[in-house]
Amino acid sequence: MKKFLIVANWKSNMSVQESDLWTEQMVNCKWQIDEKEVVVCPPFHLLPLVYQAINSKKLQMKIGAQNVSPFPKGAYTGEVTAEQLKEFVTYAIIGHSERRKYFHEDPQMLANKVDLALENGITPIFCIQDEHTPIPEKVSIAAYEPTFAIGTGEPDTPQSANGVARAVKERTKVAKVLYGGSVTGENVRSFTEMDAIDGVLVGSASLKPESFAHIVQNA
Ligand code: PGA
Repeated sequence: MKKFLIVANWKSNMSVQESDLWTEQMVNCKWQIDEKEVVVCPPFHLLPLVYQAINSKKLQMKIGAQNVSPFPKGAYTGEVTAEQLKEFVTYAIIGHSERRKYFHEDPQMLANKVDLALENGITPIFCIQDEHTPIPEKVSIAAYEPTFAIGTGEPDTPQSANGVARAVKERTKVAKVLYGGSVTGENVRSFTEMDAIDGVLVGSASLKPESFAHIVQNA
């Protein structure tokens, strides 16, 4: 049986207080995680706090970063390096379409991010927008996130997502493909029951603990 990866991407949401409430409420939510690995990706300023909360509350979750610097440590104002992140995170989302669009991240920059993440023991979750998006060779986890489905309430069909996941596995060394884009507790199972899909990347529906717990439960 495959182990599903369920990833919460908070994007630029959540204050200190809200994130405290989220972890507190997750403790009380009904969710079972047999055969599932749950990851939360908070914005940078919340990483130490969420790290502490997860450990002290014994929540069965890992932490991911939403981004990682394409440079090593040094004079790169505003960037957070993989070396700094490795203290808190197991995973890093790399190449999200919002970063490609608003921050003009190009394939070379994304390849540098993947290399630095891996050198620091962080596993990249590499986002692709369709089956032709280039994927750096060392990537083992990809997330298929068609832009039309992100934040729109209009997910891709499970069959189409499965086709992309299959094609990616055939042409690359990627071992796991997640689906992302308008995933909810109601539709998650239709994706995870597909043979080539290994989990989901969740944006909006991860912000409320009860809806995220619902997704974990139903996946
Ligand atoms: P969404 O975002 O779940 O709000 O559609 C998904 C993502 O961008 O990772």
